[in-house]
Amino acid sequence: MKPVNIHEGIDNTLLILQYRLKAKPEGCAIQIIKQYTDLPLIECYAGQINQVFMNVLSNAIDALEQDRQSISEIYIPTITIRTTISEISGNIPSVVISIADNGPGISEQTINLIFDPFFTTKPVGKGTGLGLSISYQIIVDKHGGIFKCDARPGFGTEFWIEIPMQQQGYRGY
Ligand SMILES: Nc1ncnc2c1ncn2[C@@H]1O[C@H](COP(=O)(O)OP(=O)(O)OP(=O)(O)O)[C@@H](O)[C@H]1O
Ligand SMILES: [Mg+2]
Repeated sequence: MKPVNIHEGIDNTLLILQYRLKAKPEGCAIQIIKQYTDLPLIECYAGQINQVFMNVLSNAIDALEQDRQSISEIYIPTITIRTTISEISGNIPSVVISIADNGPGISEQTINLIFDPFFTTKPVGKGTGLGLSISYQIIVDKHGGIFKCDARPGFGTEFWIEIPMQQQGYRGY
């Protein structure tokens, strides 16, 4: 565990995914909107946190690609990444990273299953269904954080990643 610059982690992940954000014959480029707050360095497992960004951002891109067939002229597939500091009184302050897309959203029947290992709606050979269950373990079990999803069919999906700023005695095996 070491002090980590969260924004650097997100930006590096976006760089790796850049080829997937570009315009393709099937559809226009995916727009990225960043709303970053000044953040201190956060004590966490950098490699693992970056893996979470990779999983969540890849899912958002998958969702937006799926939607590209039904594109209208005014629709711009967009991923919005917002960072904030949450200071719930009495608790250790935490960092919140919200990653939202304006893709198809997730149906009510599916939303409760997305964190289950091996749950996937993607074609065989494309998804293993492990991305979100691994991410949940990393945020909740290893960092004592919160990982949740809010989605509305037809409007989009938001993932909420919350990590306490100090890992007070948290061993995180
Ligand atoms: N941003 C999103 N928009 C719509 N559905 C999503 C989004 N993120 C996740 N999902 C749904 O949650 C399911 C589980 O996601 P998860 O990342 O665990 O597995 P996967 O993406 O299917 O496969 P893997 O990540 O292992 O390659 C996805 O198959 C998809 O149905
Ligand atoms: Mg995935």
